[in-house]
Amino acid sequence: MTTTRPVIRGTGHYLPERVVPNSEFAESLDTSDDWIVSRSGIERRHFAAEGEYPSDLAIKAATAALENAGLTAADIDAVIVATSTPDYTFPAVATQVQAGLGITKGFAFDIQAVCAGFVFALANASGLIMAGQAQRVLVIGAETFSRIMDWNDRATCVLFGDGAGAVVLEAQPGAGDNSDRGVLACDLNSDGRYRDLLYVDGGVSRTGQAGALRMQGREVFRHAVEKLAATAHAALDKAGLRADQVDWIVPHQANLRIIKGTAQKLGLPMDNVIVTVQDHGNTSAASIPLALSVANAQGKFKPGDLVLTEAIGGGLSWGAVALRW
Ligand code: UT7
Repeated sequence: MTTTRPVIRGTGHYLPERVVPNSEFAESLDTSDDWIVSRSGIERRHFAAEGEYPSDLAIKAATAALENAGLTAADIDAVIVATSTPDYTFPAVATQVQAGLGITKGFAFDIQAVCAGFVFALANASGLIMAGQAQRVLVIGAETFSRIMDWNDRATCVLFGDGAGAVVLEAQPGAGDNSDRGVLACDLNSDGRYRDLLYVDGGVSRTGQAGALRMQGREVFRHAVEKLAATAHAALDKAGLRADQVDWIVPHQANLRIIKGTAQKLGLPMDNVIVTVQDHGNTSAASIPLALSVANAQGKFKPGDLVLTEAIGGGLSWGAVALRW
């Protein structure tokens, strides 16, 4: 049997210039570099400059991904941006990216699944490609979580950062078995009963304000390892693969302890895990494409490697994508 596979052809990322080390928080809050590193693994993060918005970060990441793919904007027929911190209530960041890149054909839209946003976007882009709706899709995660922080809440404001990552997903022929390159299986989940564990206390209809992020960190942590391991196994099962066949886990970068706990539950050593949380903090929907791009630039992925991405975030929403590089 032959089939269409959505294959990652290129990756790119952009991080705002300003790097904020943990020590900067200790100047104004009752916190320390020691606490932040030991509880989260985060050492520094990037914050966007005044006047720098998710669409700006996304355009730079997309430009880098196109260059990495050896393509131009004219080759793209769909743009999907995963974000919870869009420039405007509407239009979508994706249409601003389209315009910024000079793309005038095809379609563009945003996806909002918070920290799981990129996994949801990748799954949706894959579905569009397999349904014949698009040949080449720019799938981007772009966030400025620094704009929804309560700077007096030490339990959250030290954890998040800004940035963008992008991949070019391209339709390529496959044999239809799990030795194909490209996306092999996706597993998506949401459960709105857990809304209160991680949410923003504002919004265009409720308050007319963006609001600030609120999190019951310990509770989210408790759900994270269990649900991430379950969704990773589910995606692998759908592809007829086992965890011991995974070459690389590219996890959502929220907390090094969650990343380690999930890898342990999957029975994989940390040598097989891409970790960028120390340098980026939690960039929500941008964290996985950022990690993919950083690792790809370091030459970590070889053609044929089995790559597993997994993420959980507000909603709660969580999921995993199994793909072959
Ligand atoms: O990306 C979306 C998904 N989000 C996540 O995956 C985040 C999941 N949660 C976490 O990563 C962790 O729960 C945190 C890093 C947020 C917190 O780590 P924890 O080990 O769960 O700490 P905790 O919340 O249980 O807090 C321990 C103590 C508390 O003090 P008491 O009650 O023990 O006296 C906090 O008040 O640490 C205190 N604390 C801090 N101390 C110094 C909280 N924030 C800070 C801080 N500096 N920044």
